[in-house]
Amino acid sequence: MKRRDFLGQAAAIAAVPLGAGPLIRVAPLLAWSRARPPAPARADGARVNRWLALFDQIGRTAGGINRVAYSEHDLAGRAFTLDLFRQAGLTPRIDAAGNLIGRVEGTDRTLRPIVIGSHIDSVTDGGNFDGPLGSFGALEVARTLGEQGRRLRHPLEVVVWSNEEGGVIGSKLAVGDFKAVDIDTVARSGKTIREGIGLVGGNVAALEREARAPGSAECYLELHIEQSGLLEKAGLQVGVVQGICGLRFFEVTIEGFANHAGATPMDERRDAVLAGARFTVAVNDAIRSEPGRQVATVGRVVPTPNTRNVIAGRVELTLDLRDLDAVKLERFADRFRRVGSEIGAASGTTFSFRESTRSTPAIADAAMMEAVEASASQLRLSHQRMPSGAGHDAQEMSHICPMGMIFVPSVGGISHSPREFTKGEDVVNGVNVLLNAVLLVDAR
Ligand code: GLV
Ligand code: MN
Ligand code: MN
Repeated sequence: MKRRDFLGQAAAIAAVPLGAGPLIRVAPLLAWSRARPPAPARADGARVNRWLALFDQIGRTAGGINRVAYSEHDLAGRAFTLDLFRQAGLTPRIDAAGNLIGRVEGTDRTLRPIVIGSHIDSVTDGGNFDGPLGSFGALEVARTLGEQGRRLRHPLEVVVWSNEEGGVIGSKLAVGDFKAVDIDTVARSGKTIREGIGLVGGNVAALEREARAPGSAECYLELHIEQSGLLEKAGLQVGVVQGICGLRFFEVTIEGFANHAGATPMDERRDAVLAGARFTVAVNDAIRSEPGRQVATVGRVVPTPNTRNVIAGRVELTLDLRDLDAVKLERFADRFRRVGSEIGAASGTTFSFRESTRSTPAIADAAMMEAVEASASQLRLSHQRMPSGAGHDAQEMSHICPMGMIFVPSVGGISHSPREFTKGEDVVNGVNVLLNAVLLVDAR
């Protein structure tokens, strides 16, 4: 896609109000209806619900699901998932970035693979559906096709991406987007990405050699929970993703001066916590100061020495910035750096910014959206086109092939929370939409 077309589409999607305005139900194109098999195929969605229930026991703590990438619980989750690959008749392999991959050959050796998948790692104190739904859904599609003796023309590849929650790291590295990842960044597990990749069976030295080339896949389709509550509010069963916001992750370090909390006069302090608090408020004010759906979050704040009677000499915080418009992201990133210098100058502290990850906004492919719509229509499920505020591995795959995503409701739009929940019937719907979308793409 030419850059101008892309930006035009991004702007058009960004202009659609989230959670407001008319519902869009787009009829499937004639091309898909001609290719349509007589009746929709059905996967064993109950099986996916059973896998999700079992998976809920891995990494469940008092705070929520803790399967953060490269942790012990992530390793346990990967072992569980590798077993599901084998049960589906796939022989899994681990690529250089630590992603799990299984492949079924198609009947036509000249065709490129249809790739489906998602992730299984979680945020700290997260939920059980963000990622596992699409990963297990993809495994169920492969298993159903095998059990029903439906051999695709295209090869089918199931991928469970590694470290999605750290900034779509596994998929970024798999598509060769190396500049966007600093692999020496310390991940949530306390290990660097480099260490983590080694731990899960990847091979940093082979990343470049194994990178997926543009045009090397027929398409990428991902099933995921919808994390804004839009589907639920609209009473709809399926979301057809139009585009995924780009993101910029920064690690911000504020240096002040550690000193006695009782003995240091208020006007002689160089308080890094106070500067961090001012920065957090300023980021929030700035991001809300113009119209649009851009969001910015200070999510993690770590003061040093982090104790009651010492003014903090240092604060490390994370800044997460997202929008569908890359130009706007750049503008806000510059603005936040400026805000940091101003607060630093006024408070005797210094701000330094390190960008640890960035993703460009991604637009879904028109034919993939139509395939998802046609699939949902065949299954008589209500659907609507919508953008994704959350990041997904699909955004990285969009750099090398046509991309599409299927959303099903998350109750209350809650996600990245232990209260994240998707109803069993929505799980079944999502898997069936994925299955039939794959069949439609295969048949065209
Ligand atoms: C992943 O869920 C993200 O959007 O951070
Ligand atoms: Mn997530
Ligand atoms: Mn996810």
